[in-house]
Amino acid sequence: MSLDSIKTVAVLGAGTMGNGIAHVFARAGFNVILRDVDQRYLDRALDTISKNLDREVKKGKLTESEKPAVLARLKPVTDMAAIAAADFAVEAVPEKLEIKRAVLAEADKILRPEVILASNTSSISITALAALTSRPDRFVGMHFMNPVPVMALVEVIRALQTSDAAFNITMELTKKLGKTPVAVNDAPGFVSNRVLMPLINEAAYCVMEGVATPEAVDAVMKLGMNHPMGPLELADFIGLDVCVDILHVLHDGLGDPKYRACPLLKKYVAAGWLGRKSSRGFYRYE
Ligand SMILES: NC(=O)c1ccc[n+]([C@@H]2O[C@H](COP(=O)([O-])OP(=O)(O)OC[C@H]3O[C@@H](n4cnc5c(N)ncnc54)[C@H](O)[C@@H]3O)[C@@H](O)[C@H]2O)c1
Repeated sequence: MSLDSIKTVAVLGAGTMGNGIAHVFARAGFNVILRDVDQRYLDRALDTISKNLDREVKKGKLTESEKPAVLARLKPVTDMAAIAAADFAVEAVPEKLEIKRAVLAEADKILRPEVILASNTSSISITALAALTSRPDRFVGMHFMNPVPVMALVEVIRALQTSDAAFNITMELTKKLGKTPVAVNDAPGFVSNRVLMPLINEAAYCVMEGVATPEAVDAVMKLGMNHPMGPLELADFIGLDVCVDILHVLHDGLGDPKYRACPLLKKYVAAGWLGRKSSRGFYRYE
């Protein structure tokens, strides 16, 4: 498979990340087969993509007349067999190993042998996912950031088995999306979460120990370190449950107690205070 022969991309899962990934591929001129298990998830994804394209038109990133062409390149499907036409595939189904295992096994059977299969997982080993398929050398991590249409970074993760050819094609393909690929080897949390989650965790410890309020912690990091968002604002945005899950992955995978999740984070999750999505986390949202 060469870079230039990639014209059609399958995106598996049309949730938060899948709709964004489909959006950026379609905007870059690729045909996209967007697959989810139920039509209502596809309808919701297309609605979100349409609204996000409007926002891009307003910002001048896209012309009004380009929008229908971008939407026309998206083909929503519930039938997995439809991904047979894809020249590249990205998996963005929920972060549960059993779901990933089933989806990857099914996709692996349908996709042509030369097609590269990428996973957008935030925390599962790319090496372990690659080993579940019959194409481990053509398996790679493609870690997009949320919100996908806005964020410049894609961590491109090389599994132990990934071939140079598959890795290089994925790096170049990422550039075609107008994103900046950064090469990373497979390790728990990759680089993004390996560095970000201890920051969020330490910020939570500062609150738990009464060192400072959430507002004060975030103000220090925004005004003193030039971070656009404070770590606790960001944690609320990501979801405190997701943060705790990723800290567990770092703790289990690296075995160092410095990655243990802050008890206050776990307590908030137990209370159902998950951040923005539940209207309350470190902050309250109307
Ligand atoms: N949300 C984030 O900020 C973020 C950031 C980076 C990476 N990720 C990763 O992206 C992946 C997806 O996360 P998300 O937040 O978009 O989840 P989500 O729950 O919003 O979306 C997942 C979608 O997959 C669909 N799905 C479930 N089973 C499926 C199947 N068998 N085939 C096809 N679709 C199926 C669900 O219906 C849902 O629409 C996860 O691996 C996550 O770790 C998430």
